[in-house]
Amino acid sequence: MAGIIAPSILSADVTKLGEDVTLVEKAGAKYLHIDLMDGSFVPSMAYGPAWVKQLRPMTNLFLDVHLMAVHPENHVQALADAGADLIGVHVEATPHIHRVLQMIKKAGVKAEVVINPGTPVSAIVPVLSMVDQVLVMTVNPGFGGQAFLPEMTDKIKELMVYKKELGLDFDIEVDGGINNETAKLTADAGANVFVAGSYVYDKKDPAAKVQTLLDVTK
Ligand code: DX5
Ligand code: ZN
Repeated sequence: MAGIIAPSILSADVTKLGEDVTLVEKAGAKYLHIDLMDGSFVPSMAYGPAWVKQLRPMTNLFLDVHLMAVHPENHVQALADAGADLIGVHVEATPHIHRVLQMIKKAGVKAEVVINPGTPVSAIVPVLSMVDQVLVMTVNPGFGGQAFLPEMTDKIKELMVYKKELGLDFDIEVDGGINNETAKLTADAGANVFVAGSYVYDKKDPAAKVQTLLDVTK
């Protein structure tokens, strides 16, 4: 089965965001990855609930919100009300990851836990049974266009072992430096959801890039 492609609007053209979204939807992407950055958990700032709310009625794509913020609990309800389908929360961003995941589920939204490159898989084992998806960051979060960290593929393999041992069925998403080569590498390790920002949007023909990602993750 081909992977789920999640173009990241961080690299899209905000002056024609609608067109950029429609283009990847028609090309076969299933998710739209929306990065919320607070300028504190990560140095940069990006998209909040108002963007999710405006995007919701104009696409059928699954809205995959990656929350990079301190006090993530402050944003859960607003994102759910805005129409997020999934909210991903960093384990490093809160001493209460279990409670925040409970909040997300209670809000009727799919829940994801996210780990930075410096965080081991063992940090999220206690919450694996609560989540629909795990996001393994393959760059340090905050910016598009960074180089993929190859050693992160070991974490995907480790998660696959936990999935089997614990009988769980969460999806495994990767985010950062994903292109035709790294998508294949991470797919082979067990990832099935692929975020791609600069690879899809920076140069010509985002639709062709989505098609390539679909092909290499089969
Ligand atoms: C980085 C973001 C990513 C970003 C990825 O912190 O979480 O979603 O858009 O960009 P690329 O695909 O260019 O590495
Ligand atoms: Zn992201």
